[in-house]
Amino acid sequence: MGVSKIGILGAGTMGSGIAIASAARGIAVTLYDVTESQLAKAKGEAATFFGRAVDKGRMSAADSDAAQARVATSGALQDLAEADLLIEAVFEDFDLKARTLEALSPVARPDALIATNTSCLKVSDLAQHVAAPERFLGLHYFSPAQINPLVEVVRGDATGDATIAEALAFCEATGKKPLLCKDHFGFAVNRFFCPYTNEASRCVDDGLGTPVQIDRVAQEALGVAAGPFFVQNIIKPRINLHAVRNLKPLGPFYAPADYLTKAGEAEESFDLGTDPGPDPTRDRPIAERLLGATFLPVLEELDEDVAGPGDIDMGAEVALRFGRQPCELMDSLGRAEVERLVRPLAERYGVALPESLARVGSLRG
Ligand SMILES: NC(=O)c1ccc[n+]([C@@H]2O[C@H](COP(=O)([O-])OP(=O)(O)OC[C@H]3O[C@@H](n4cnc5c(N)ncnc54)[C@H](O)[C@@H]3O)[C@@H](O)[C@H]2O)c1
Repeated sequence: MGVSKIGILGAGTMGSGIAIASAARGIAVTLYDVTESQLAKAKGEAATFFGRAVDKGRMSAADSDAAQARVATSGALQDLAEADLLIEAVFEDFDLKARTLEALSPVARPDALIATNTSCLKVSDLAQHVAAPERFLGLHYFSPAQINPLVEVVRGDATGDATIAEALAFCEATGKKPLLCKDHFGFAVNRFFCPYTNEASRCVDDGLGTPVQIDRVAQEALGVAAGPFFVQNIIKPRINLHAVRNLKPLGPFYAPADYLTKAGEAEESFDLGTDPGPDPTRDRPIAERLLGATFLPVLEELDEDVAGPGDIDMGAEVALRFGRQPCELMDSLGRAEVERLVRPLAERYGVALPESLARVGSLRG
């Protein structure tokens, strides 16, 4: 079954972004929300996005009008009855998502695919609330979904092979880069992005440097376009704190840092401070902590077979704009150096060294 019509439940940040990305590639979209003003806002965002595409010469006026016309909005669930694929993007609350999926099942076509855009919940738990769990999966888009190319395609315990194949084809058809991964805390990318950003806050907690200095060191060490604090100020410390807290069941290494908790709970941005300037004695310990905190969870997810090394690197490059991707970087540093970087964190938090450490040097083959 080819996907040409989709329904999206929830017209917030992600729902409207997914709608724009899909409509831009010729997909007919119906956005459904319980709040009328959210639907109007989503329509406005589509008009702005496609209007700008014309201004920048990326799209003709006729194509822009056609793309906008492909985004319909509705406050009636029944209007999703024709969709080939339904993507749930309501608030991150298990009960709300479960109730929304239960209400959707009698409306959806029996052969429709149903996906959740959850960041934090288990796809396999939500699958208990749909009529056909084999046709249910995670499609985890990255913000801003109208621009960011990565989509994690999450296979739940009951997700069928045909469902995965259709979802991968939909991603390709809408210009997205799919990353197939297992249904585990943080999936493939947040599993290491959250500890990396969290370690940046721990460096502040431990008095190693200021946020702007840590951002500069991260740019040098990992080739990121922007450092962890700058990026968190865009996504909001409150949102990142929520994502980091979701990983807490994985153990104390993943527990949120005080500096992040304080900014997140106060709903404030990070004050970036001033940079004392490059100094190897001050900068090296920060670089080592950021690298160690990125490598340790990547090695753990390789042990757990959440995703393969090539896909993890692709996610880091495409979604996070890491200029140096973790597995390739570990291979170039070699096993002994990677062990030197991860061992202090493993000892501090009582974590066993991952078995995949032994494969460093040839992770990428
Ligand atoms: N914001 C991000 O960076 C991001 C990234 C990836 C995934 N996600 C996930 O995407 C989902 C949506 O997040 P968001 O940031 O777009 O949230 P949001 O708060 O911007 O939007 C949620 C929307 O859901 C609507 N809604 C609430 N109850 C509803 C119901 N019963 N039926 C239909 N619509 C309903 C709200 O009116 C709102 O428009 C969450 O699961 C979140 O974890 C978010």
